[in-house]
Amino acid sequence: MVDNKWKEAGYVTEPVPAGTDIKAEIRRMCKEKNAVIMAHYYTDGAIQDIADFVGDSLALAQQAAKTDADIIVMCGVHFMGETNKILCPDKKVLVPDLNATCSLAESCPAKEFGEFVKAHPEHTVISYVNTTAAVKALTDVVVTSGNAMQIVNALPKDEKIVFGPDRNLGNYINSITGRQMVLWDGACHVHEKFSLERILELKAAHPDAKILVHPECKGPVVKVADKVGSTAALLKFSQEDDAKEYIVATESGILHKMQQACPEKTFLPAPPDDSTCACNECNYMKLITMEKLYNCLRYEWPEIEVDKETADKAVKCINRMLEMSK
Ligand code: 13P
Ligand code: SF4
Repeated sequence: MVDNKWKEAGYVTEPVPAGTDIKAEIRRMCKEKNAVIMAHYYTDGAIQDIADFVGDSLALAQQAAKTDADIIVMCGVHFMGETNKILCPDKKVLVPDLNATCSLAESCPAKEFGEFVKAHPEHTVISYVNTTAAVKALTDVVVTSGNAMQIVNALPKDEKIVFGPDRNLGNYINSITGRQMVLWDGACHVHEKFSLERILELKAAHPDAKILVHPECKGPVVKVADKVGSTAALLKFSQEDDAKEYIVATESGILHKMQQACPEKTFLPAPPDDSTCACNECNYMKLITMEKLYNCLRYEWPEIEVDKETADKAVKCINRMLEMSK
């Protein structure tokens, strides 16, 4: 029975019973309920460590599409839960806190995006995965930062394209593919905050450090990168490359896996423009805590719902992405 208090809060507000071994209980419930825990690299280290699968947005969607679990607990933000639900309509998909939204997805309301699409007839609509299900329902093909270049390159050279919502990723893809996609003017509040000046100051103090940048960062930051890529691509690069130090310009949660994989290397979080705040943390991802994960499994709530009409439309562009990134 879902308590009104929980609905108001967006998560189960029950305290975890005193003396509970949270980790052991989470694993026990997963086994009992045939549940799988998926986590994004931006969640807290403890969440990543208890998850069955940790990945970037592309890998999380690919994993959801092939899981045989009855319940998927998506430790990430709301659009990631929606993507899983759209791909697995018969499974229960849980996100431990419904307040875990995404500023980038929110920068693209479906009604306005629909008008934008209408204003550009005969354009193929490409949407970044960081969008609501309603925006995906207006989309021809979804991309992630891990496959955007590959998917855009696979389209005919003269194809007219509308790209939303991230203007930074869109500009980056335009610059490397030579396309002139029409861009929606959206951005992520975390990636927009990285400061070129402060990154260069850090680089001056660590001249041998390589700079790793997520393409949601602004153009001038992307320009100084030794490697631009999705979270998974940056992680892979840091493992295969021979530098000893890295400046990492993406949400700082990724440092957990980087450091775990290469304890001998040094990973420095790129500084945001405001040194007084933890702006290189995604406040939405950090809403996912062990307590909420425990309660979410225990009460099987909050559950992600996507109405059938929207899901039936949205699944086509997600499947097209999965097909094109094989
Ligand atoms: P990735 O697809 O690179 O994991 O990025 C997701 C995201 O939200 C970036 O801010
Ligand atoms: Fe969304 Fe930005 Fe958080 Fe990624 S880091 S989930 S784009 S708000």
